[in-house]
Amino acid sequence: MPRMNNAEAAARAAETLRAGGLVALPTETVYGLAADAENELAVRRIFAVKGRPQSHPLILHLGDVAMLSLFARELPETARALAETFWPGPLTMVFSRTSRVPDVITGGQDTVAIRVPAHPLAREILRRFGGAVAAPSANKFGKVSPTRAEHVRADLGDEVDLIVDGGACEVGVESTIVDVSRGPPVVLRTGGVPVEALERALGVAVPVRVSSEVRVSGSLASHYAPRAGVVLARGDEVALRVTEAMARGARVAAIAPASIALPPGVHRFEVAENAAALARELYALLREVDAAGFDVVVAALPPDAGLGRAVTDRLTRAAAPRD
Ligand code: TXA
Ligand code: MG
Repeated sequence: MPRMNNAEAAARAAETLRAGGLVALPTETVYGLAADAENELAVRRIFAVKGRPQSHPLILHLGDVAMLSLFARELPETARALAETFWPGPLTMVFSRTSRVPDVITGGQDTVAIRVPAHPLAREILRRFGGAVAAPSANKFGKVSPTRAEHVRADLGDEVDLIVDGGACEVGVESTIVDVSRGPPVVLRTGGVPVEALERALGVAVPVRVSSEVRVSGSLASHYAPRAGVVLARGDEVALRVTEAMARGARVAAIAPASIALPPGVHRFEVAENAAALARELYALLREVDAAGFDVVVAALPPDAGLGRAVTDRLTRAAAPRD
């Protein structure tokens, strides 16, 4: 396809969405697989292409906060404050839903997850389209989320009608999900907005509760997983874990900052000490580990604060037992 400029790409994308097509589009977190949220057949195709169970609800993406009342039945004061501080941006809030939200989006639940993304191209597409867009991450179910257009191409290729290339995602991990539908806000998934930032905006502690009762697909054990096995290690244990995996005969690499010592000859996917920089690179690195043919990657855990919490969460899921 000839290279389109952003205005052309956004126009094409809006047209494709209106026609009931699937568009992979960039957001600041990860690439999304978008369809017209109010076109049931189009939304069903998202589940089919991803191989995702229908029981896993999707996030509604809006171009404008003003549209919120069409889909959210109540707007609690905390939600208003969070929207004002973090939208557009990497925050998703779970609201009680209006009857306008199709069941196919929510898996029949009485709540709906909504986000207003910040990526300029996503915003331009939503503005031109004018409606709500349902968009999970644009990867096969359970796999690593895409943070570059070429990741989407590799995963979904011609199963989507259009892939809009907006470059590398700035945040690199999915949005933070906060439930505001049942009283005090609760974090259901750590992500692009650090929990500390939520707490600063609200002036109260915000608990993190990733429960298996709530149907959050990101809370299943094995998820965000590359083909290679993932082993987590605190900084001072990375070298030991690498040595153990090598002793089992595996081809081993490490994802670690330069400050962490590795046994000689072991390939290092070098990352910044800074958790935000690590978040930005994480999914691309996991893909590189697979492309380079490693059996096992030992990942150094970042400090459990700020974006480090989301990175630790995703690495923990990638390291969980697989079926
Ligand atoms: O950053 C993101 O959030 C990306 C970009 C594309 O916006 N999207 C994303 O979507 O990560 P997905 O489908 O991969 O993850 C959406 C998460 C799932 O874990 C889903 O279960 C949860 O949102 N979710 C959706 N509706 C919900 C609801 N009503 N209650 C609780 N969780 C919900
Ligand atoms: Mg996903």
